[in-house]
Amino acid sequence: MTTFATFNPPQRLLMGPGPINADPRVLRAMSAQLIGQFDPAMTQAMNDTMALYRSVFATENEATFLIDGTARAGIEAALVSLIEPGDTVLIPVFGRFGHLLREIAERCDANVETCEVPWGRVVDPAMIEEAILRTRPKLLATVQGDTSTTMCQPLAEVGRLCREHDVLLYADVTASLGGNTFQADAWHIDAVTAGLQKCLAGPSGSSPVTFSPRAVEVITRRKSIEAGLRADGETAAATRIRSNYFDVAMLLDYWGERRLNHHTEATSMLYAARECARIIVEDGLAETVERHRLHGEAMLAGVRGLGLVVFGDVTHKMNNVVGVEIPTGVDGDRARGQLLDQFGIEIGTSFGPLHGKIWRIGTMGYNARTDAVLTTLAALEQVLRRNGHLTPHGGGIDAALEVYGSTAS
Ligand SMILES: Cc1ncc(COP(=O)(O)O)c(C=O)c1O
Repeated sequence: MTTFATFNPPQRLLMGPGPINADPRVLRAMSAQLIGQFDPAMTQAMNDTMALYRSVFATENEATFLIDGTARAGIEAALVSLIEPGDTVLIPVFGRFGHLLREIAERCDANVETCEVPWGRVVDPAMIEEAILRTRPKLLATVQGDTSTTMCQPLAEVGRLCREHDVLLYADVTASLGGNTFQADAWHIDAVTAGLQKCLAGPSGSSPVTFSPRAVEVITRRKSIEAGLRADGETAAATRIRSNYFDVAMLLDYWGERRLNHHTEATSMLYAARECARIIVEDGLAETVERHRLHGEAMLAGVRGLGLVVFGDVTHKMNNVVGVEIPTGVDGDRARGQLLDQFGIEIGTSFGPLHGKIWRIGTMGYNARTDAVLTTLAALEQVLRRNGHLTPHGGGIDAALEVYGSTAS
């Protein structure tokens, strides 16, 4: 009989665009014993989690909870619940994850319109307003930070435009939340979904979400409670949401006072999500963003100090990830492999038009730390040298230390 040994994952420092090493506090929280899904301690933990994520999203929305599944599950839940077949949905596309929104909206049978810019840029609000006036969408769906390009789309102005033209606004903040300023209510964002495995310092597998009262109204109009759970007199809605698992109307009854049974909440992921938010609330949301800004700036200075060229419009770069052009003559995958095998450090490759052209280096969540930044720069220098890119000795570390030296922390 084949036997399988205990899986002991190798020691890695995850400095790619996510996932990153989880905060040990989150791992400890996940190892707590399971309890029943309607145990008062469990429902209290669910309520705590809702309150904590209201702080993280900067919202008063009652409808703030978790979708079980990775960040993509949150996106699907938001879009399938908001979009009715035939609705016009406008999607600014500035990287891979804009294409993902388009793909999911198409599967919801939306009439999808896009406004696209080349990878490495963000979309000008004037272009978005022109597209709103031309297409008259019900929903505008956008990514905030697109890890595929490292760009962070400014959203305050987009929110103002959507409100002015009575368009619902959805934002995917999976890669940006906690590392870049985000304010759901102040920016008039009606639906927001995230993931734990980037700046929130957790594992993938739970998607914190929030919906404004406007979005909840649109969603609950389509509410259709499953047979077997329906109360007398309740009927199925004519335009039922086309997913059972991601039916936000039913999920609201599970997370709300009615506690109507839906799925079995992923208990260990609930513990993880709760702890991720607790860390941010304890440290302070603004302070967490500032930590990402500082370490992101140190990494940016460091890669430049190694003589590497930074990809894209740096004024709109996310704090938590930087794209660097792979120097001519260096085999990008080989160098990444050496970083992993010899130093235990992972950095990211790229997709689509950027494949083989840039590496992506993250400084996020638990790994937005001085030692993680300096270790990565030291190892990268050695690997670059051995691949024929003769960087200035210690140039990366010097530049990063200069950033740290010029701040009080
Ligand atoms: C902006 C963005 N959206 C969505 C996703 C998908 O997340 P997941 O792999 O957790 O489903 C990612 C993952 O990298 C992302 O960066």
